[in-house]
Amino acid sequence: MRILIVGHGGRESALAMKLKDDKRITGLYFAKGNATTDHLGKNFNEEDIVAMRDFALKERIDLAIVGPEAPLVDGIVDEFEKNGIRVFGPNKKAASLEGSKAFSKKFMQTHNVKTAKAKIFDSYKEACEYIKTTSYPTVIKASGLAGGKGVVICEDLEEAQATLDDFMIRRIFGDAGIRVVIEDYLKGFEASIIAFSNGKKLFPCIPVKDYKKAGNKDKGPNTGGMGSVAPSPEFTMVHMADFQKNILEPTMKGLQEENIQFHGVIFFGLMVTQDGCYCLEYNMRLGDPETQVIMPLLENNLYDLIDDCLHEKDIELKFKDEKAVCLVMCSGGYPRNIETGFEIKGLDKVKHSQVLFAGARNQGDRVITTGGRVLNLVATASTYKEARDKVYADALPVRFDYCFYREDIADFH
Ligand code: AMP
Ligand code: GLY
Repeated sequence: MRILIVGHGGRESALAMKLKDDKRITGLYFAKGNATTDHLGKNFNEEDIVAMRDFALKERIDLAIVGPEAPLVDGIVDEFEKNGIRVFGPNKKAASLEGSKAFSKKFMQTHNVKTAKAKIFDSYKEACEYIKTTSYPTVIKASGLAGGKGVVICEDLEEAQATLDDFMIRRIFGDAGIRVVIEDYLKGFEASIIAFSNGKKLFPCIPVKDYKKAGNKDKGPNTGGMGSVAPSPEFTMVHMADFQKNILEPTMKGLQEENIQFHGVIFFGLMVTQDGCYCLEYNMRLGDPETQVIMPLLENNLYDLIDDCLHEKDIELKFKDEKAVCLVMCSGGYPRNIETGFEIKGLDKVKHSQVLFAGARNQGDRVITTGGRVLNLVATASTYKEARDKVYADALPVRFDYCFYREDIADFH
């Protein structure tokens, strides 16, 4: 069996590491891969959907797994299926639950999925009037994909006005910001739940805690994720029951009613408040860095899970009774201006963690930084503290110029 993994981050490295020992898999292919996947299979260096389709046909790929949102929203699944390539991921229609926040908000409102109260605006003038009447803080979201930067928590009218000007007039995110969602601010803690879809039902994994801010104690700008912990220690069985009743089940029903059928995963971004769980967003893909801590705890064979979902069979997810911690090591300046091209040294001294590369490539026998999130260190243990000690001990000898990472991942004291 030949498997193509689309994407080149830590998430895709984690998928590759989970699949690599499956004896039935004779070839792993990556579009476009990184320093982890260089060693595991063949990398294809283009990200254009048609080029990837042709590559998949030429290499006689039996299954494609798509990591990132952009190709999903652009219709990679539809293109692959049209050409007889089996693929795990949502089609374009289903992917718009992530690609359009206006669409997903309407979906949640229509199907009683518990979410923050919100209004959708296409008119700049009407949005400007509305922000004079709403309470603060208020949350303004660009409807389209904005690389995780299209959500602003506005403290007052002045900031809200500046945000509308940025999104709708200056169009800093292009067309993504011409429609906005303005919603009530929710106070609580966040959790990520990823559920597999077999086209009929959703099967949730253990909850994960993602660390979104660049700095310790959640200070600084939002990032793609600076670390993760599974299972989330804050998310109790009571929260899980609440999530299932008020978010998961209404979503599943809504998908059926709107005939949105897909074989892939749905990621629920949750805010857990005093009043229970609210759905902040859907992502129609695996999370990064959530996948890095789910894969080592997942007891099921990943290929079998995907195959069962594609055959619309029910699955039973099983997780080890352990804790997993992922620490993301970044290039200086991330998430803003970064410099890359530095050699990563000390990797041979990593003793207790799995190294999953993201923004890093091999150059001869050296590994060179190529992106903001450079690599992940992932460890499992019977306690959070033990897993945390492992990744932090392993981070010490790993060096590249201007490297930084958060010091409080999985620090629960
Ligand atoms: P989203 O892409 O919609 O998940 O938003 C990105 C981030 O903005 C979330 O992970 C939260 O940290 C924050 N956020 C989004 N919506 C709200 C809200 N209604 N109240 C408070 N924070 C929010
Ligand atoms: N960790 C959040 C995401 O993958 O979007």
